Amino acid sequence: MMDLDLISKADHIPVLIEPIIQNISPVTGVWVDATFGAGGYTRALLDAGADFVFAIDRDPNVFSLAEKWLGQYPDRIELINDVFSNLEKYVDDVNGVVFDLGVSSMQLDQATRGFSFLKEGPLDMRMSQTGPTAADLVNSASEKTLSNILYFFGEERASRRLAKAITARRERAFFETTTDLAKLIESVLPRSKPGQSHPATRSFQALRIAVNKEYEELFNGLFSAEKVLSSEGYLVVVTFHSIEDRIVKRFIQARTGKLYSTNRYLPGSDVLPIQFTKVTRKAVKPTASEMSINSRARSAKLRIAKRTDFNPGKNLTFDELNVPIVGEF
Ligand SMILES: C[S@@+](CC[C@H](N)C(=O)[O-])C[C@H]1O[C@@H](n2cnc3c(N)ncnc32)[C@H](O)[C@@H]1O
Repeated sequence: MMDLDLISKADHIPVLIEPIIQNISPVTGVWVDATFGAGGYTRALLDAGADFVFAIDRDPNVFSLAEKWLGQYPDRIELINDVFSNLEKYVDDVNGVVFDLGVSSMQLDQATRGFSFLKEGPLDMRMSQTGPTAADLVNSASEKTLSNILYFFGEERASRRLAKAITARRERAFFETTTDLAKLIESVLPRSKPGQSHPATRSFQALRIAVNKEYEELFNGLFSAEKVLSSEGYLVVVTFHSIEDRIVKRFIQARTGKLYSTNRYLPGSDVLPIQFTKVTRKAVKPTASEMSINSRARSAKLRIAKRTDFNPGKNLTFDELNVPIVGEF
């Protein structure tokens, strides 16, 4: 059962929604909200003129929150509980796909979900609530893999030291709770100075990304979106940290013909087979006033591209999109 505090959070203003709507106006046709969450983007799209939204979320808990307002949009929303890398199973020929990546504040705020190092809870972190938990990962992955995850997914410079301390501690007792792991991290890293983030921030981000295979999802989600978008359809992506943003940036560079300097013209044609054109020239960041009312917006970046009528390109490799590879876990 969701508590009232969470329900009021569900009414928060969605990140970067103003520049999104401005850049895709007039909003028409059928859209996919690939990360439904509290439904902020879905509602904004429908209010701005979209006819229908397919609303996907991998977290089965989010949909009950929408019940109080779904009735305002009769026959205009279909809720789908799945990962967005599967979006080709549900839609084709859509006018837009929007991704607002990562976890929601509702997920972070619920201690029992295990995303927050500030709240005592099971070391879980699974958005879909299936598969191995963060505890399974820290209690069983090799020291090398753990170190890679912390370094490549969390940009944690002390990754080796932390991985060593984690594996030594689990010999004595497995990690079970968020605060148990956070305390171990605090004991290894120097105390943060005023204005710096908590020492466990980067490690918790890294573990969350690993548990939910977020980069694999993003990689596959972008290629799926390319396949289901109709000509002139919009790809809209909001990211929250540099690795995520770099993957999206590289994807758009590749599909707008800017990643390779070699000549990729079609034989016998003078037209470059590009799948997208850029709508936002550079990443759009929130205004100071948005950041001041929404702390989650601080690191947000928005990129928008528009589908051409060329066929989807061949899938690129993890390496080409700079997706970090950390080994088996
Ligand atoms: C940042 S929140 C979205 C907030 C939403 N835009 C709003 O305005 O309320 C991200 C949501 O995406 C979901 N999510 C993250 N990765 C996903 C994936 N690969 N497939 C489907 N849903 C995903 C999470 O469960 C979470 O509910």
